[in-house]
Amino acid sequence: MPENDNPLVAELEAVRAQALGELDTMSDLTDLDAWRIQYLGRRGALTQVMRGIGQLPPLQRPEVGQVSNDVKTVLETAFDDRVETLKQQRFATTLSQEQLDVTLPGFPVSLGRLHPTTQILREITGIFADMGFQVYDSREVESDLYNFELLNIPPYHPARDMWDTFYVNEKVVLRTHTSPGQIRAMQAFHPDPIRVILPGMCYRYEQVTSRHEMMFTQVEGLAVGEHITMADLKGVLENFARRLFGDNRRMRFRCSHFPFTEPSVEVDMDCFLCNGQGTGCSMCKESGWLEILGAGMVHPQVLRNGGYDPTVYSGFAFGMGPERITILKYGIDDIRLFFSNDLRFLEQFS
Ligand code: FA5
Repeated sequence: MPENDNPLVAELEAVRAQALGELDTMSDLTDLDAWRIQYLGRRGALTQVMRGIGQLPPLQRPEVGQVSNDVKTVLETAFDDRVETLKQQRFATTLSQEQLDVTLPGFPVSLGRLHPTTQILREITGIFADMGFQVYDSREVESDLYNFELLNIPPYHPARDMWDTFYVNEKVVLRTHTSPGQIRAMQAFHPDPIRVILPGMCYRYEQVTSRHEMMFTQVEGLAVGEHITMADLKGVLENFARRLFGDNRRMRFRCSHFPFTEPSVEVDMDCFLCNGQGTGCSMCKESGWLEILGAGMVHPQVLRNGGYDPTVYSGFAFGMGPERITILKYGIDDIRLFFSNDLRFLEQFS
């Protein structure tokens, strides 16, 4: 082949021959990168040759451009091929040296699970849904008016001592119970009949012990309509307890007092630890019973505050603590475990 009389074309071809020759001998990916910079980089050999194009007669310049592009494409393709070849070689070496057994089982993926309170909340919600109760969400940050006053607890009422809380300001509190949701539900549903449960967090400024948390969950229940009686309350709660705890557990209703229900009761289950015997049992303080909820017939003034005429309508309400219920169901001895983030505890509830 006659030698090209275009000096830059000759130089480009020399660069191509030298670069391809070097590439063939390379066996290291780091060297390859240096090669790429040396020939194809911004200040590489190709660019250097092209700098001389201004000195050429105009007629010779297009040929240089064309050849330069061709050389660039050839070098880039050769580079990619070489990289691929080296990677394959390296992979083959790894396979033969490390003797990877692709049939071995992998590492188990550890799956998360629902918090025990969430699990019991779902169970409780399911049981009440079967009895026709729907979930009504109420607010966690409440006004003093709803948390106390509309529930017959005016300022300075002694019942406020039972439900001391965290004040956002003088008129706004973190709710101490889910009962303010009763008023909100009544105002939302009025004048229709109501059958709702209201699950959610509550807060109390109290001494944390194995049975008391300062932050815990409650599920409120409320039914309002015509001719609702205490027998309906008892039937609903007995059905609930039988479904959750089984037929063999005993339940009792005990007289109590809440300012927003009249009459009021507290409901106990027989102690899981001593089987209701009581003798020497610290869990139930030797009584044989553990309290799970407070309940009663909605007070006429509370019905009025919610917009219902107590001469026509009546209703029942209850409020239970799901953590206390989980304690009962699974024989847990300390309520603080629910919020201590201890995986040894949480992993037991799959
Ligand atoms: C109330 O909070 C009433 N609002 C319940 C009620 C609703 C009565 C509707 C009548 C009608 P009490 O303070 O007893 O009542 O709490 C109800 C339940 O919440 C308790 O039985 C218990 O299961 C749970 N509970 C109360 N305080 C705590 C606490 N510090 N830690 C964990 N659970 C608690």
